[in-house]
Amino acid sequence: MESKAIIVEVLKPLVGEYLSDDAIANLIEIPSNSEFGDLAFPVFTLAKQFRKAPQVIAQELVEQIEKEQFDNVVATGPYINFFINRKIMSNRIIHEVLENGSNYGSQDLGHGANVTFDMSSPNIAKPMSMGHLRSTVIGNALSNIFAKLNYHSININHLGDWGTQFGKLIVAYRLWGDEEVVKQDPVKELVKLYVEFHEKAELDPSLDDEARAVFKKLEDGDEETVALWQWFKDESLKEFDKVYRLLNIKFDYNTGESFYNDKMQPIVEELEAKGISTIENGATLVMLDDEELPPALIKKSDGATLYLTRDLATAYYRKKTFDFAENVYVVGNEQANHFRQLKAVLKRLGNDWSDDMHHIPFGLITINGRKMSTRKGEIVLLEDVLHEATEIALKQIEVKNPDLPNKEEVASQVGVGAVVFHDLKTDRMNSFNFNLDEIVQFEGETGPYVQYTHARSRSILEKFGKEVDLAKTLELNDNYSWEIVKKLSTYDQTIVQAREKYEPSVIAKYLIQLSQLFNKYYGNTRILDQDDQIEARIALVNAVATVLKDGLGLLGIDAPNKM
Ligand code: ARG
Repeated sequence: MESKAIIVEVLKPLVGEYLSDDAIANLIEIPSNSEFGDLAFPVFTLAKQFRKAPQVIAQELVEQIEKEQFDNVVATGPYINFFINRKIMSNRIIHEVLENGSNYGSQDLGHGANVTFDMSSPNIAKPMSMGHLRSTVIGNALSNIFAKLNYHSININHLGDWGTQFGKLIVAYRLWGDEEVVKQDPVKELVKLYVEFHEKAELDPSLDDEARAVFKKLEDGDEETVALWQWFKDESLKEFDKVYRLLNIKFDYNTGESFYNDKMQPIVEELEAKGISTIENGATLVMLDDEELPPALIKKSDGATLYLTRDLATAYYRKKTFDFAENVYVVGNEQANHFRQLKAVLKRLGNDWSDDMHHIPFGLITINGRKMSTRKGEIVLLEDVLHEATEIALKQIEVKNPDLPNKEEVASQVGVGAVVFHDLKTDRMNSFNFNLDEIVQFEGETGPYVQYTHARSRSILEKFGKEVDLAKTLELNDNYSWEIVKKLSTYDQTIVQAREKYEPSVIAKYLIQLSQLFNKYYGNTRILDQDDQIEARIALVNAVATVLKDGLGLLGIDAPNKM
């Protein structure tokens, strides 16, 4: 239990008649100066009910408050200032963390309800770029955070394996491609062909018509066309898997857009039957003027379906298959209108569950100030970025810990962790520039800094060499440990906050702060000195290690014991 809850507990019998638990909690403030205690409760709001001056109310309440859990409770004008009993609180929090271990912070908010996470979802025949990193790691972290709160998270890779671009690619391959060359370096060669198509189509628009026709053939199941598409898809998946393995990301389903090819027709028909869609120049669309959105294009004049049509079928399929409590789409902000249109069309069809679909957008990544675009061939391969990060990490480990036996493995955990942490520590809507040398650093607000703090705590535990007996009272009262205890006590609300805001950065920021507090403690405390508090200090170190590891785990980052 965190300190706020203690105060709610003692105030409840006295003011519960007028204020709910939440109302009490919301009034509690953290004094700007710790001379005024750990927490303060203003009594202004009670003046009416008590018919007394706030100063008097504060004074009277202080006399009645159960003081067992406090070092001191004092009235200062209209405020009640609480000095929490550090020994009681530290003993309780240390025990809570160590007894629960990796379950510390787990709460049953979800009651096992299904939540689908539409995440990563790169496009076949294109490299997985830095642009897809965000969807992958934010989606994975959210999925972990929801699971910690007892939701049943379902990770879905909605691969971009369907659409007119495959018409373009197949046309380009047939005109300029070479099987042997593609086999040698598939994704690179396919991207080249795709880029070439766009260059040539600018001069010769008939290529676009041809591509449309070929995609129609693909939709209709033409054997030769499907075989080419399948080949491109298999090769691409092999490439994506390399990145997922590096990131240690697992999907429950790899159902891409093509999976819904045979599931769209009933929806198109329903839209027509209910008079929701209209036909203009042969194309089927839903006018969304009332929602202040551009018209949703459902079918082109040649009968080809669109990205949106497939997303309509996807949403229905997910509702039917998983009966989701929430269907979360972790996709860049540039698709905001697409998801608004999707929800609007579903709503028009009478599906109230469309309110449970949430587009969770995020900002753009630039590398050294540049935006990436596949069409122009300016691509930065995520796999290369992760390898480069690992090399930078390895160089630092060579300096810091040259005798480490599994250097390569740790370097990969640190390099990859650095990239992931950097992505997650920024509020997801903020765009950011990416500079590897800055983020793979053991100092500053980085992933390696948190990992290093964890390894430091592990090495203290190793030096101590014994388990602390949890049957003992483990009390601390110095200023440095007190800050850590308070921070540890807020881990559970931090996770809830991250879930409510769909914001993994809440966890990342918490981990940085906990690391900073721990390193202050480490710098100012003789942790291993043999005195009567040594076991309490060691237990605190263990509690910090436990929470750092668990928090990094929520973000999808490993916590090596040595680095
Ligand atoms: N493949 C798409 C892209 O790279 C992202 C798909 C997102 N998910 C969805 N259900 N629309 O832009």
